[in-house]
Amino acid sequence: MKIKPPKTRDDLIALLSLTEPDDLQELYDAAYAVKAENVGRVVYYRGLIEFSNYCIKDCKYCGIRKSNDEVERFDTPREDILAMARWAYENKYGSLTIQSGERQDEAFIDYVEGLVRDIKELSDGKLGLTLCVGEQTEETYRRWFEAGAHRYLLRIETSNPALYATLHPDDGHHKWQVRKACLESLRRIGYQVGTGDMIGLPGQTLGDLADDILLYRDMDIDMIGMGPYVVHHNTPIGKAVLASGMDSKEEQKRRLEMGLKMIAVTRLFLPDVNIAATTALQALHPLGRELGLKAGANVLMPIVTVPKFRPQYLLYDNKPCVDEVPEQCKNCISARVASVGDTIGFGQWGDSPHFFHRK
Ligand code: 5AD
Repeated sequence: MKIKPPKTRDDLIALLSLTEPDDLQELYDAAYAVKAENVGRVVYYRGLIEFSNYCIKDCKYCGIRKSNDEVERFDTPREDILAMARWAYENKYGSLTIQSGERQDEAFIDYVEGLVRDIKELSDGKLGLTLCVGEQTEETYRRWFEAGAHRYLLRIETSNPALYATLHPDDGHHKWQVRKACLESLRRIGYQVGTGDMIGLPGQTLGDLADDILLYRDMDIDMIGMGPYVVHHNTPIGKAVLASGMDSKEEQKRRLEMGLKMIAVTRLFLPDVNIAATTALQALHPLGRELGLKAGANVLMPIVTVPKFRPQYLLYDNKPCVDEVPEQCKNCISARVASVGDTIGFGQWGDSPHFFHRK
């Protein structure tokens, strides 16, 4: 078969339905060619500092949900966060992503604002800075933007509000419409906006996944971070999936494959966005992130979290890189990029070209 650029929802579904190995290889190769032409064969790093696992949310799939009382909660001391940021800067990581569980209290908002200022200062403004700290008011997003953050990641998780409702408690604090409104606020303020979904969720259809890609287009999204759903054993969804036998090796392989197809089809549909090969791919396959790069992703997020806190930041089971220190992650990730034949955009922000071509 010859892969044609998808134009319609049906085209997206047709590509996401491919299963024959030869067809899949053609799909990945076509997406890689579109990546090479539109964003280059260059991989940009966003060093990921997971600085706290306190969370006010109770998402039914996530290992750091507030009702998981097996989790030992931590806040990374400020000096340690800054030391990690300095390490990333000295190692020529062009940008950092600062991530934590969600909190909305004034102390947290002030703290993040101060961190943004300090990280910008220690790098003379040179480190790019992405925030990934959940749903906030437009005013809070604006404060952080004015402090120097210029990108924000907030996954929509799924474009289907009914499916979203099955994944979150019905307590008035986990609303799909609020999540969407946050993405709109971020765009209004001027952030480069990133979103994404989880792939292979119980009850998710190919139509839902096609709609996720259409939502990225309709919301004029700049950056996409999506990955397969991975079971966490002490969560309501994880327990249900385990109990129904839906986490077999074959099922995991299907979720990985669907994750790779989503990267490839998104690249074909939205050639100029940044797409990350996320850690969850590697939780399901030792070479998951390389496969993501070969299917059209152009961003990697090497973990720069303080080593002693890594075992406490487990959103899902079998998370890779938990026993490693940043130096190991750097070497390991560089080898992964080289094996694909891409180069690393050291010292560069690697902005999404889409941001400069917005509607
Ligand atoms: N499997 C895969 N991804 C997960 N996330 C949270 N829990 C899981 C899981 N069990 C993702 C969500 C969230 C991001 C920070 O991590 O998409 O937005």
